Amino acid sequence: MRGAPLITIVVGARPQFVKLAPLAPALRDLARTRIVHTGQHYDYDMSRQFFEELAIPEPDAHLGAGSGSHGEQLGRIMTAMERELSEHPPDWVLVFGDTNSTLGAALMASRAGRSLAHVEAGVRGFHRHEPEEVNRVLTDRLSDLLFVPSARAVRHLAAEGITRGVHEVGDVMVDGLQHALAVHGRGTERLAAAGVSPGAYTLATFHRPVNVDEDGPLGEIVEALIALEEPVLLPLHPRTRRRLAHTGGLEKLERSGNVTCLSPVGYLTMLAYLVNARRVLTDSGGLQKEAYVLRIPCITVSAQTAWEETVELGWNRLVPPNAGDIAAAISGFTGGQRHEPVYGRGDACGRIRDAFRAVLA
Ligand code: UD1
Repeated sequence: MRGAPLITIVVGARPQFVKLAPLAPALRDLARTRIVHTGQHYDYDMSRQFFEELAIPEPDAHLGAGSGSHGEQLGRIMTAMERELSEHPPDWVLVFGDTNSTLGAALMASRAGRSLAHVEAGVRGFHRHEPEEVNRVLTDRLSDLLFVPSARAVRHLAAEGITRGVHEVGDVMVDGLQHALAVHGRGTERLAAAGVSPGAYTLATFHRPVNVDEDGPLGEIVEALIALEEPVLLPLHPRTRRRLAHTGGLEKLERSGNVTCLSPVGYLTMLAYLVNARRVLTDSGGLQKEAYVLRIPCITVSAQTAWEETVELGWNRLVPPNAGDIAAAISGFTGGQRHEPVYGRGDACGRIRDAFRAVLA
């Protein structure tokens, strides 16, 4: 492969590791790949656990950006990416999704005059001050190849005047899900350790600053989980755990008898918890989409979603962070009537490889 084009793939946060797992092997016979980990997520159970479990190759570079304010985090990612791209100049930089790692790498690829590919392009939540929305819009604007997960995302790009380099490939997340289910099955044996039975519990996750950084919404979410009375599995993002410990919510949940607070779990355990759940209660974008693909009813504590198809087809309900509204949304909700492959059929990685093959030829 010496002399072959180099694609630098940048990851930094959990959902990006999950998408790297199926995509890295798909590109390997086409180009040299260099995996760069920004260090945005760094705890063992937020990062390394995913690489081990999904057999993702060790990153070629760790930038060690870590946490901080948005300015600090973006600044560290960009400074380190600038050095990385000058020491190992690639032909292409590939980024995923909408995190600060995505935007930081995209900006520096542009400054270094490198071509940029964006996986999960065209997704919009239309909440223009949300950091993720800004990261998406700006990254798409800078991208030469835009790998789009849905027909709706193609339309969003067209409405912004972006039509060149756009490839509707489906969602890489579907490839990863299908592969994991085929190899590992439904993982029901993982439920016993968490003390729940298939179809008889709610899986809940919360990490969005709007829900967990303010005492009001966080308190309402705690009340809603306890009011459910049936078993709830609650893997906690470190940010959420810290805030719950600070507000006394953690103690309340632990005393509740029905809510089990867990450390962040790896991909296969999360998949087992999800595919066997009665419902999902979340503010995660990725989990809404995974729930849809697996036909699990989802209640999303948010004013808007970037995955509108899931709501339109009846599998996802949006609710404000209010215990009464959450209870009302859950009551009698068993999911949608229709289910369509709006995020593709699990062949996104192959389509991305084909598009790269054409531009590298
Ligand atoms: C980030 C992304 C979000 C994505 C999520 C996936 C941005 C702006 N947000 O949110 O779009 O949905 O990742 O999980 O990029 N922390 C730790 N250990 C870690 C990582 C984080 O303790 O390994 C704590 C730190 O206190 C940190 C906080 O969590 O300040 C938030 O982490 P950060 O990466 O800034 O944002 P996320 O909420 O994870």
